[in-house]
Amino acid sequence: MQNYVHDIPTRLYFGKGVVAAHLTGALSAYGKRVLLAYGGGSIKRTGLYDEITALLREGGFSWCELTGIEPNPRIESVAEGVRLCKENAVDVILAVGGGSVIDCCKAVAAGVYWEGDLWQMVLTIPRGSRTLPLVDILTIAATGSEFDGGGVITNLATNEKLPAFFTYPAVSLCDPELTYSVPAYQTAAGSADIMSHIFEGYFSRTDDCDLSDGIAESILRSVMANCPIALKDPANYTARANLMTAATVACSGIPEYGKVRTGWPCHQMEHDLSAWYDITHGAGLAILTPRWMRHLLKKDPSMTGRFVKFATRVMGLTGTDDTALAYAAIDALEAYFASTGLPQTLGELGITDEHFAEMAAHVNAVKHLDRADLPLSDEEIVQIFRACL
Ligand code: NZQ
Ligand code: ZN
Repeated sequence: MQNYVHDIPTRLYFGKGVVAAHLTGALSAYGKRVLLAYGGGSIKRTGLYDEITALLREGGFSWCELTGIEPNPRIESVAEGVRLCKENAVDVILAVGGGSVIDCCKAVAAGVYWEGDLWQMVLTIPRGSRTLPLVDILTIAATGSEFDGGGVITNLATNEKLPAFFTYPAVSLCDPELTYSVPAYQTAAGSADIMSHIFEGYFSRTDDCDLSDGIAESILRSVMANCPIALKDPANYTARANLMTAATVACSGIPEYGKVRTGWPCHQMEHDLSAWYDITHGAGLAILTPRWMRHLLKKDPSMTGRFVKFATRVMGLTGTDDTALAYAAIDALEAYFASTGLPQTLGELGITDEHFAEMAAHVNAVKHLDRADLPLSDEEIVQIFRACL
């Protein structure tokens, strides 16, 4: 088991009614001038916007709004948020939405103090840079952005989508009832993303982290049990609550305590697919993951034991032939993703092999896989992409 540090300064309130109970108190700690940021309008359709603005009014806050933050948030939205914060001398940012809104706001929080070009900030920002405080209200269970310091920003002009460490939220308000309105496709994609955050660390070469593995397996079983319930019965509190809890923990680093870094290969590959084709993050991951797993198993049969563990402890399979069991688990996972209504091939998303070589080169150029214990060559990445067509 490797050394690790646990350093998550976010105060997270979970459960029914946390917005009414804690929003104004959370914001007041930082000041009265707020940037209220949200996405394409779901918060207006659900009534959450009215609830929040009533609370802000009653609390004596003034606010300006950053609206229309895109899924796969763009650097232009970051720039607009920075402009609004500076012009209005904003004290605290309130992000209301999913990973895209929260990530964009993390970059805005840092951008306010960044001298120079904001895309350069994404590329080079050092950890610990000065930021505005950020409070968020989470509306979809997926990325875990409510409990980590990372943000992923897209630059369509350069076909890049890159993660950076900006800041942890100071406070995250997570009410599962706010996710009742998440459409089926986003529920399934978000659930696939949660599972991918686990897979990325679980299929490592570190085998002696019992707690991490147990948490990881438990999250996978929970998501596979609760996502189908949420798809059939969107207002099922227990299912939504379990998905939200799983999302928060899955990307927090906790399921990787003590493990050697893997570099999160599926995420690096998915970010390049999104940078070129603007696809839904979780949908891309659900397509890539089984193909990446088969590639890994074929390339390195010493990984078989890990897959057998996954087969027996997560997928509930049994058998005496380890290799057969390992492949059966991957097939079962693929069938599970299909059962949630997610696309099964990149072709279904309009993706061809035209840019695979450039994407593969970029995946390795950004160096996240450099120190990984599961590196992939450019050629291997192209093979995995092709297997997804
Ligand atoms: O924009 P609105 O109108 O709000 O609609 C959104 C959006 O269309 C909708 N939605 C969200 N909550 C809803 C809802 N619709 C109805 N009712 C609700 N309660 O869902 C759509 C997707 O939203 P988005 O924020 O894009 O989803 P998600 O949370 O999956 O975020 C994806 C982004 O996060 C990045 C991804 O790469 C992607 O850019 N990631 C961030 C990470 C992090 N910060 O740690 C890690 C992840 O691995 C990931 O890379
Ligand atoms: Zn993800």
